[in-house]
Amino acid sequence: MQELIDSLAAQAAEALAAADSRATLSAFWQEYLSKNGKVAGLMKQLRTVAPEERPAAGKIINECKAKLTADYEAAAERINAAELAARNAAEAVDITLPAKRRPMGALHPITLVKNQIIDVFAGMGFEVYEGPEIEDDDHNFTRLNVPKNHPARDMQDTFYITEDILLRTQTSPGQIRTMDAKKPPIKVLVPGRVFRSDSDATHSPMFHQMEGLVVDRHITLCDLQGMLDSFVRELFGETAHTRLRPSYFPFTEPSVEVDVSCFECGGKGCPLCKHTGWIEVLGGGVVNRKVLENCGIDPDEYSGIAFGIGIERIAMLKYGVNNIGLLFENDLRFLKQFRE
Ligand code: DAH
Repeated sequence: MQELIDSLAAQAAEALAAADSRATLSAFWQEYLSKNGKVAGLMKQLRTVAPEERPAAGKIINECKAKLTADYEAAAERINAAELAARNAAEAVDITLPAKRRPMGALHPITLVKNQIIDVFAGMGFEVYEGPEIEDDDHNFTRLNVPKNHPARDMQDTFYITEDILLRTQTSPGQIRTMDAKKPPIKVLVPGRVFRSDSDATHSPMFHQMEGLVVDRHITLCDLQGMLDSFVRELFGETAHTRLRPSYFPFTEPSVEVDVSCFECGGKGCPLCKHTGWIEVLGGGVVNRKVLENCGIDPDEYSGIAFGIGIERIAMLKYGVNNIGLLFENDLRFLKQFRE
């Protein structure tokens, strides 16, 4: 028996010394120390030993098992440490290497101007609302007091999808949608993309507008001019101010075209303002009573002012861009100039 044990111990020590991975280690455990392993096999053989020698033999087998178990645990520790060291070495990061450069992006000039406009009016308590780009004729025209066959429809070359569905030509339908959803007091801005079949150096089939609408008691044209004066001061500088010229829009009465004093020459006359001292920036007016009525608001109790700003136009004026195409071509040489 002693011999058997000695030879098993020698065999096991050799196998353990050769174990160099979790897999070989687990094979070792299976072969020697598991329930059906060789050490358990020795225990079973005790039956063949003479009864008086059994206690001594059992003790030796137990000692052998205890030693193998301790050796196995030591080997496991050694192998785990080696595997960890190997993994650390493989995953090592050389922190002295120069980092990969990730160039910073920047906001598009249209987004910059849109955000500036929102900032100015948010300061006056306006909320921002966005309506759908695919609109129906009712919201885009009819309820804005532009009935079918009205000549004012010719002012906007419309992309029709069906007879009643179209790509909105203006953000003004946002006025209707706001007044349907909410009753006065209303102070809302509606930024968004609009579409017209029109294309040249200053027109693009898709462009951006910002609608403004205020409805409350005692709102007048003076409120519009006061608000727009603060607006142009913020965008074009402290000395900028506005001038209103009579105009026509079906959804406002009276309607105005709003000019800003030329921020290039201060009003003396230069090529930018075509020597008039003034630059046209937006349209607006007092909300037509019919539009309020179309939205279930009593025009004898409430009045409103509205305006529509072309964002491209403001961006082109502010940054001296002479071709609208530059705003949509995504030429990085152009866009990089707007990195703040
Ligand atoms: N929707 C007009 C356009 O696209 C701009 C406009 C003018 C909007 C007057 C208004 C307004 O709200 O009162 O030409």
